[in-house]
Amino acid sequence: MWGMAGWTGSEEKQVNEALDKAIELGCNFFDTAWAYGDGLSEEILNKTLKRHPGKKLYTATKIPPKNRKWPSQPHFTLQEVFPADYIIDYTEMSLKNLGVDSIDLQQFHVWEDNWAQLDEWKEATTKLTQQGKVKAWGVSVNRWEPDNCLKTLKTGLIDAVQVIYNVFDQSPEDNLLPLCREKNIGVIARVPFDEGTLTGTFTKETNFPGNDWRATYFVKENLLSSVERADALKPLLPQGMTMAEMAIRFILSNPDISTTIPGMRKIHNVESNMSCSDGNGLPANLLHELKSHRWDRQPTVWSQ
Ligand SMILES: NC(=O)c1ccc[n+]([C@@H]2O[C@H](COP(=O)([O-])OP(=O)(O)OC[C@H]3O[C@@H](n4cnc5c(N)ncnc54)[C@H](OP(=O)(O)O)[C@@H]3O)[C@@H](O)[C@H]2O)c1
Repeated sequence: MWGMAGWTGSEEKQVNEALDKAIELGCNFFDTAWAYGDGLSEEILNKTLKRHPGKKLYTATKIPPKNRKWPSQPHFTLQEVFPADYIIDYTEMSLKNLGVDSIDLQQFHVWEDNWAQLDEWKEATTKLTQQGKVKAWGVSVNRWEPDNCLKTLKTGLIDAVQVIYNVFDQSPEDNLLPLCREKNIGVIARVPFDEGTLTGTFTKETNFPGNDWRATYFVKENLLSSVERADALKPLLPQGMTMAEMAIRFILSNPDISTTIPGMRKIHNVESNMSCSDGNGLPANLLHELKSHRWDRQPTVWSQ
């Protein structure tokens, strides 16, 4: 639910219709964050919950870093990013924005594994859990740093991890997914379309308005190499399958993945993505072929 409250091209009516359609088609898990429009995306989810009072819909949100820096850096202290009183204050704000008594999954919007053994976050999370204000805790691991949470997961205090995992970004398979399997930690695969390039709709001329986050992410260096790599996937498409469908089915073919959270704002995207929830993965030979399209990237100035 990031794009709905932060990217250009979101219209309230269309967004609400897309959410209602998703629920009609069986979607019951929604990922938002306080930072998506400073509470706006959470409020969109609040209204959605109210429009569907009879359904159990799961709310996942995130506490923004206090210093407002994405991603965090190894030298940032827990005190400057997630002090205990701040964890509590932002959880209270999210409860209000969402209009719920309890958040199903509260996540840290950035993370550094060298905070694993510090007491402050553990005390705050334990208190909120005991008060019934949060049911489960998650770490949203920084872009292209899937291992930057492994020690934290071993504390036993984290129930779910949100990580970039898609046809390009397969590196979570190395260490993170086996650990989650061993510890029974939920895995939310985010950014299934690599922010859009894996839908196959981008060209080397694609550009975004200056007030759209994607203008700062799809800098020339990133756009050109991403489009080339996405185009290289097109000959692999089975007859009648779109790139978006192949991208989602790749993720859902992996039994270590609990769910994936495509950014959806339009009914036709909702219908296409929800149709991949039929339990059918990709054929083994295609999965094998897609393995070789793994693209290991390092965080850089524009990657955020
Ligand atoms: N640090 C974090 O914790 C973090 C960071 C990033 C994302 N997230 C979460 O992950 C979610 C997904 O990531 P994302 O939205 O950044 O990227 P994404 O899901 O990889 O890509 C979203 C883009 O794909 C397009 N799209 C969706 N379904 C499509 C389909 N069937 N066919 C063609 N195009 C399709 C959307 O189109 P439109 O533009 O037309 O809507 C949008 O431009 C976010 O909304 C957010 O909840 C979390």
